[in-house]
Amino acid sequence: MMDEELILLNPGPACTSKRVKDALLRGDLCHREPEFTQLLFRIREALPRCLNLGDTHEALLVTGSGTSAMEMAVISSVREGRSVLIVNNGVYGERMIKIAKANGIPFHEVRSEWTVPADPAEVERALAAHDDVDAVVAVHHETTTGLINPIKEIGEVVARHDRLFVIDAISGTAIEDQDLAEVKVDVVCGTANKGLHGLPGMSFILCGERSVERLQEVPERSLYLNAASYLKGQRKGDVPFTPAVQVCYSLDEAIKEYEEGGGFAARTKLYRERAALVRGQFERLGLRILVDEPYRANTVTMLHLPDGVTYQALHDELKQRGYVIYAGQGQLSADFFRICTMGEIPWHRLEQLEDALRESIEAARG
Ligand SMILES: Cc1ncc(COP(=O)(O)O)c(C=O)c1O
Repeated sequence: MMDEELILLNPGPACTSKRVKDALLRGDLCHREPEFTQLLFRIREALPRCLNLGDTHEALLVTGSGTSAMEMAVISSVREGRSVLIVNNGVYGERMIKIAKANGIPFHEVRSEWTVPADPAEVERALAAHDDVDAVVAVHHETTTGLINPIKEIGEVVARHDRLFVIDAISGTAIEDQDLAEVKVDVVCGTANKGLHGLPGMSFILCGERSVERLQEVPERSLYLNAASYLKGQRKGDVPFTPAVQVCYSLDEAIKEYEEGGGFAARTKLYRERAALVRGQFERLGLRILVDEPYRANTVTMLHLPDGVTYQALHDELKQRGYVIYAGQGQLSADFFRICTMGEIPWHRLEQLEDALRESIEAARG
């Protein structure tokens, strides 16, 4: 067993820097004090800026995992008696459907295979067929398979039909190349702990002007996730419920690190370089990638399990060598596994992954 830190190669929570972890210890703070208000203002201002949406979107912070941001976004975008169109090609598209069902929101679906990007023409047809649709929801990076959906093209279609466009960018923010400023998007869902390298526990939605108007028009479907009350409070520096104060400290520090390191351009470059490094290793090791090249994400790679190797055996062998990998979801769990290069990972540990994988595959075959 090695004495270096365990490297998480799962798609969040991701490894974080010492600086971000140390920020947890800034001290106790009551969220009704002016120091928290300053922290909240700083983060609210920084998040859209970090994702190149500084002039057009404002952030609402919620204490909760990414799913709380997804749920807040969906229930805040659809008026009474109207419906949502969900673009579904993976577990997180399916989760959007579960959210609509749980909240009694009528929905339509544009579905494609898990390995096939959503087709904007299908979205066009669905919008033409259903004039009750208030909002279209799509997942940018489907973490299920490591597949990128064409959110820019879908956004064009949605804007032409004058509906709201909501994206789940939870596993894509600050990672994927698509500049969100070029996407006609009204609501972006994200979390602290993926591409921004903060700790888990805080999520956010970024709302454009049309979304801010819309969330005043929707019924109060949830007490905790009512975006209108977050907006009213957070504009004054207030939060409706007790926030994860220390996780906000860490997010604040993670944002500083991100911006000092060169922001969006530098972070996405790092992710592209990591993807190239590990995918070269996969090729040399004969590990086949599920998703076709043009649609691959910069972080998650979904790989076929080598012949005669179970996920559990491979996982356990790699963990002994210092790496945590991730299982496939749903119908992909028996034959596939995922490797995700997200978070603070020293470069040499990614270089060493090739040997660790080779040895682990041999050992797992027995
Ligand atoms: C694309 C996507 N959406 C939503 C979520 C849900 O986030 P959480 O597990 O933090 O609720 C995840 C989590 O990995 C994700 O990858």
